[in-house]
Formats: sequence, C-alpha cells, structure tokens
Amino acid sequence: MKYQSVKGMEDILLQDVRMWQELERIARSELESSGYCEIRTPMLEDTAVFTRSIGEDTDIVKKEMFTFSDRKDRSLTMRPEGTAPIVRAYIEHSLDQVSSESKLYCIGPMFRAERPQKGRLRQFHQVGVEIIGTSSHYADIEVITRLDRMLKAFGLDGFTMKINSLGCKDDKDKFNAKLADYLKEEKARLCEDCKARMERNVLRVLDCKNESCIQVLRGAPNVLDSLCDKCGSHFEKTKKGLNGLGVGFSEAKNLVRGLDYYTGVVFEVSHPALGGQDALAAGGRYDALVREMGGPDVGAIGFAIGLERVILALGDKCRPSPGRKTVYIATLGDRAKIEGLKLAEELRPLGIVTLTDIKDASLKSQMRSADKNGSALVLILGDEELNAGNIVIKDMEEKGQIAVALASVKEEIRKRLC
Ligand code: HAM
Repeated sequence: MKYQSVKGMEDILLQDVRMWQELERIARSELESSGYCEIRTPMLEDTAVFTRSIGEDTDIVKKEMFTFSDRKDRSLTMRPEGTAPIVRAYIEHSLDQVSSESKLYCIGPMFRAERPQKGRLRQFHQVGVEIIGTSSHYADIEVITRLDRMLKAFGLDGFTMKINSLGCKDDKDKFNAKLADYLKEEKARLCEDCKARMERNVLRVLDCKNESCIQVLRGAPNVLDSLCDKCGSHFEKTKKGLNGLGVGFSEAKNLVRGLDYYTGVVFEVSHPALGGQDALAAGGRYDALVREMGGPDVGAIGFAIGLERVILALGDKCRPSPGRKTVYIATLGDRAKIEGLKLAEELRPLGIVTLTDIKDASLKSQMRSADKNGSALVLILGDEELNAGNIVIKDMEEKGQIAVALASVKEEIRKRLC
C-alpha cells in the first residue's frame, strides 16, 4: 500500500516552507503594526456555526463542507472559512467587553470539498482579517487599505480590486424583490442553476458565469439604486477615503459574493495570473451577523486572502528567500564531539544556524553533509585542535581554511557571515 496525501490537500516541503514563512511574516508584520491581534480558532466547529452564517443555500454549505458526526452524533464541520468561527469566539468570550472594537487576524488552513484544480484546493490557507464592533466607514477604509498594502508588501502588482455595496438588510430585501421581478421576465434565457437560484437565493444569479445569464444580467437593476441614504452615503465616503489613500479600485454592480452574511460594502481582488474566475482575496461588511449569531448588535467588516493564489500570482517573483548561512561543526573523537555540541549551543542563541553530526559519522561523511546542506563554514574540531586550544574554520565558498583560537571563534564566524 502506497500512501498519498488526500486529494486536493498538499504537503508543503523544504524550500517552499521558507516562502510560506516569509508570506506569513509579512502578513503578521503588516497587521500587527496596524494594531491587529492574532486569534486562533479550532479547525472543527459545530456545523450550525457555518450553516447559520454562510447560508444554507450557498455553494459552500450545500456541497463543499467536510461534515461528519462524532461518536455522540453531533454534527461537526472542518472550517471552510474563518469569519464565522471568529464571530463565534468573539461572542463566546465576550470580546466586546474587552475592547469596543476588536481588530483580529487569523492565518491558517481552511477546508472546502471543491473540485481541485490549479489554485483551487480542498485544504487551502487564508490570511483572514476582521474588525468587529463598528459600522463606521472608517473601518471599511482601514480594512480595504490594509488588504491593498498587504498584497503590495507580498510583492504583488497588476491586481484589480472591485467594490460594490449590497446595502443593509432592508436594501437587500428591496433589491432582491426588484431583481426577482426582472428575472421572471427573462427566465427562459437563464441556465438551469440560475432558475433554481431565482427561487432560493436570487442575488446569486448575479455572479453566474454562464454567457446567456451574463447577457440577461446586462439589463438587470443596479443594486446601488436600492441603497437607502445611509448606505449610499457610507459607500460614497468609503470610496472617497480609498481614493485619498491611493487604493486603486473599480465599481462592479454585479459583485455580490458567495456567502450570505454580507451587507453593505463588498470587495474582491483578482489577478490576471489566476484566470477569470478565481479571486485572490475578498471580503465585505457583515453588520447583521454578530447579532444573528447571538451576540451584541455591532457592525463588522473583514476580508481573507488565499495564500496559494498569492503564490501563483507572484509566479517567478516568489523565489524562496535564501536560507540563513549555516555553520557545520565537524568533529572527530568523543571529547571533540561534546565540545562541538557545547559550541553549537553557544552559537545558536547568537542567531547562527549551527548543524552538528548526529550520526557519529566519519569526518569525510560530515564534510559531505555540510556541503549538501549548503553550509557556508565548517568548523573542524578533533583531539589535536582541542589540545592546542584551536579550531579549524573551513570556508566552503573560498575553499581556504585557517586555525583560530577557540576563544575567538565566535568573533571570527560573525566577521565571515555578517
Ligand atoms: P472567500 O471569498 O470564500 O471569503 O475566500 C477568500 C479567499 O480564499 C478567496 O478569494 C481565495 O483566494 C481563497 N480561496 C477560497 N477557496 C479556495 C480554494 N478552494 N482553494 C484555494 N483558495 C481558496 C471568505 O472566506 C470570507 N471569510 C472572507 C471574509 C472575511 N469576509 C469577511 N471577513
């Protein structure tokens, strides 16, 4: 039996891990410097956390969740996204009592049983960002700017941000009714999926990619015409703020998003390297969700970036960052081995990546390991050197070697590596 990773779930190996660590480092630094705190929620939640928030009638809930019953017959689901668990945790731990607004972020795997293809996995990774506790348009400006800046900090360019507003619950209801009326007249030209969507969740017709549906939608009512004064002004002020901050975006009247919890401003970022369908990042306001899940009546907004897609979009720019320069301590004889291990313990806290022989290998074989690991320096220590109070430093690039006093070896290594 040859075991393989589960379909749509990938191992991240060796050099690639460095690239992932670098993206995560950039995300953390960008977010923490703006006052966001990390939150880590479990991979598993009660299924209702997702059905209630994302919506029974969405693709995610209907066909993409990894759901199973535990031994006590409770229905559990692997998180398909990060917002609902964060809202659950916000309510469960009364985070509204800790601070009037919570600025939170989460980096980690999400699970959706989609058909795997390039940039679409069953286990994928998101950087998710949420501000919970305010309905102010300044939060929209902050969150969308953070998204723009983070993508740029990753080294991405050429991405496009689309933005729209769905309005508050009342506006959404008003628009749904208008859209349903319009589509009734055009029903014959809609695809079978959209005919079903018309009955269950008419808004979802707007992001159908079927050519005939796209034609029909050209004449559909504009969601912005259904916005109340408050939502209209919120949208205008958000756009003005983004312009002021130099965040590029364009308006897209058919942008509705695939999760039901959105109200108000919604946005999506795409990149030409990903093809037409797949977004790099997306988000929006969800002012009703916290209350609907049993929490206080507070506004909220957030987004998530798909890291696999960031890596795809970066393409060749996404070279793994060079590893730190490594020192290998090659030792000969028991006494030297222990002294070598002691020296390694002294070098590591100085930030010097230090490898030692853990196989009791011959000197020749240790030199081979050092070479294979790309070590910049090899320190050679045997009984002879110990007796003389010396250590040999071999420079693997310049090929030369010198003996230095053990007492000054740290200084010598620093000079050569820094
Ligand atoms: P979402 O649009 O479902 O939103 O996902 C956000 C991003 O996750 C997508 O733009 C994409 O980059 C990535 N993504 C989604 N599915 C996959 C997949 N199967 N394989 C690879 N990448 C994928 C959310 O998840 C919301 N929670 C965002 C949000 C936060 N809204 C408010 N706060």
